[in-house]
Amino acid sequence: MMQDEFSALTQFSQEYLSFPPFLAAFEEIERSIQLYRAGAITQHLLVTGESGTGKTTLCRLISQKYPRVVLPERDVQPVLYISIPPAATIVSVSEAMLAKLGDPNPTLGTSSTKTARVVRLAQACSVELLLLDEANHIQDRGQSPTQYLVGDWIKGLMDGLQIPAVLLGLPRVESLLRVNEQLRRRFTRRMRMELGQSPEKSIEQECLELFYTLIHSMPIPFSIGSESWDALAHRLYFATDGRVAYLKKLLTGAIRLSFELDLSEIRCQELAQAFEAEIWPQGIGPLNPFSHDFAFRRLDRQGEPFEQGAIASRPGTRRAYAKQI
Ligand SMILES: Nc1ncnc2c1ncn2[C@@H]1O[C@H](COP(=O)(O)OP(=O)(O)O)[C@@H](O)[C@H]1O
Ligand SMILES: [Mg+2]
Repeated sequence: MMQDEFSALTQFSQEYLSFPPFLAAFEEIERSIQLYRAGAITQHLLVTGESGTGKTTLCRLISQKYPRVVLPERDVQPVLYISIPPAATIVSVSEAMLAKLGDPNPTLGTSSTKTARVVRLAQACSVELLLLDEANHIQDRGQSPTQYLVGDWIKGLMDGLQIPAVLLGLPRVESLLRVNEQLRRRFTRRMRMELGQSPEKSIEQECLELFYTLIHSMPIPFSIGSESWDALAHRLYFATDGRVAYLKKLLTGAIRLSFELDLSEIRCQELAQAFEAEIWPQGIGPLNPFSHDFAFRRLDRQGEPFEQGAIASRPGTRRAYAKQI
């Protein structure tokens, strides 16, 4: 039983979903690679999204699709994917890049020789795309001077490499770009990872669709009981804020519970318990989206799970996935 549960949960957590903003960002990044290969233009892209919207997963998927290949004469690495460390410095970022490029001794040399090595190695490995995740760890000029220098350094590196770059991070990266004019000019093409950008569907409907996709790969069936699908869609949106990570947490919790209690199906009451266990321990009664007396409102007030960086978009908001500004 233990083994069944383990393999069911592993399989469930490894499943990739192509929900609309994820797919749109994936395709746009691939387009940048194709345009570059065709010798057309070097198109940079900024991808923002709250935590748990799939940015890091997107980077991993792109890296998997364009893996490093070891050839007899040299290594070819189409994608250089780096996660910018917290309190990033030029040295820490360049060392991370050198390590990813297979440099045998990333810490060797001065800051400027490391930068030169990054460019040389990237060119030697035919890197065609730079993926910079956690761009929110680059600071603006109002903050630590060593950290804002990283922004300027990246700009210089992009000029040196002449390949498309994708910057990914929390929505506050947009304000970093507002103060860093040089970076802003390079990232005019922008996309957002949140649901709720479809002109045809509400965010609740999109949540429900994501839920449908997920329940198909669950080891135990879901039973809606007397609830309506429309009400469930709203409950799912309020419980997860439309973020894929929370939807998966919720369902993982429900699967675990059903194994524990030896249930033959997952019902709304398991979702209620899973919400409390996996998302918000204080989510009880009117504060639990799956309870009968739920207040049917966003849980974004102070102390609530989606308080930080509340998403501005609401159902019916018309916004294109890729916005040229
Ligand atoms: N496309 C996807 N398909 C399936 N699961 C996903 C997808 N995107 C994100 N997830 C799930 O959400 C979790 C958080 O995603 P992550 O990419 O780390 O978000 P972010 O980087 O935006 O904070 C992942 O561990 C994964 O389980
Ligand atoms: Mg991430």
